[in-house]
Amino acid sequence: MKNPVRVAVTGAAGQIGYALLFRIASGEMLGKDQPVILQLLDLPQAQNAVKGVMMELQDCAFPLLAGMTASDDPEVAFKDAQVAILVGARPRSKGMERADLLQANAQIFTVQGAALNKVADRNVKVLVVGNPANTNAYIAMKSAPDLPAKNFTAMLRLDHNRAASQIAEKTGKAVADIEKLCVWGNHSPTMYADYRFATINGQSVKDMINDQQWNAEVFLPTVGKRGAAIIEARGLSSAASAANAAIDHIRDWWLGTNGKWVTMGIPSDGSYGIPEGTVFGFPVTCENGEYQLVRGLEIDEFSRERINATLQELEDEKAGVADLLK
Ligand code: NAI
Repeated sequence: MKNPVRVAVTGAAGQIGYALLFRIASGEMLGKDQPVILQLLDLPQAQNAVKGVMMELQDCAFPLLAGMTASDDPEVAFKDAQVAILVGARPRSKGMERADLLQANAQIFTVQGAALNKVADRNVKVLVVGNPANTNAYIAMKSAPDLPAKNFTAMLRLDHNRAASQIAEKTGKAVADIEKLCVWGNHSPTMYADYRFATINGQSVKDMINDQQWNAEVFLPTVGKRGAAIIEARGLSSAASAANAAIDHIRDWWLGTNGKWVTMGIPSDGSYGIPEGTVFGFPVTCENGEYQLVRGLEIDEFSRERINATLQELEDEKAGVADLLK
């Protein structure tokens, strides 16, 4: 039996937490032969609810669940964590301005980044799900100077999966056969889902669809506004699909993608004109526990405009929290 991997999850009492923890414990994230220890973090007032989730986890009798802890202290929850999935964040409340939301989350992620810096495993893989995910990941990364910056990532996988499903529906092909799809930028309606390089069984998706108007006027708005459409329909924000995307993101990072492109929000190395350090959605492949940026892709005029727009939004978010990172 392998040694258990310590997985910290924040926002454990929330709706994504509820859709996520059972799948991690069942081995869907790190593999069916990999025991895990869950280290759950939530606010003091949510500890009772976390206890209830732990009772249910216990009642599943998962063979791979080697232990569980709950805490409201990030330095306890992140102790020796090898994977940290940061889901808990401050939601927007009535009358709250976007700037206030940014500030409230910046404070959370400054504290959590510093805690990771202090107590987590030195190779901890961090995935930020809580919104604004890219900027929160950037703040956590900046607050953890002793950890490798490349280990801080943001979740763009839900956008990627949404884009793949829309393409499968449009082309009538199987979603699993889509290769070389990516989503550039911020996890927000400005993200740019790009199927120019995508193939299905070796055939170009762009040629198959051959409809730039559909791309600009149907596909991109549908993917960009999918979160809002789900809130409208369900009365609650996406949770199971978000948890699923988090599983996909970490599983691929941990176990590899076999050459397949996936989208991760990663700190830029300056490629594609994205300023160094900006946490941005890029196409990557994963191998041996590391992601590699897919390089050398041509960026045409339409794509450049889209990429610049989503970058501008991220730069504005960054400017909104600059005072906290001095
Ligand atoms: P939720 O409101 O059901 O749960 C959030 C949980 O986080 C609550 O239990 C709350 O007590 C906890 N929490 C709040 N502040 C915390 C802190 N400082 N430390 C630890 N725990 C804290 O929300 P839900 O639906 O689970 O969503 C969580 C986040 O994920 C939201 O920010 C949401 O916008 C984001 N999200 C991101 C997606 C992405 O693709 N990146 C997709 C869907 C949601």
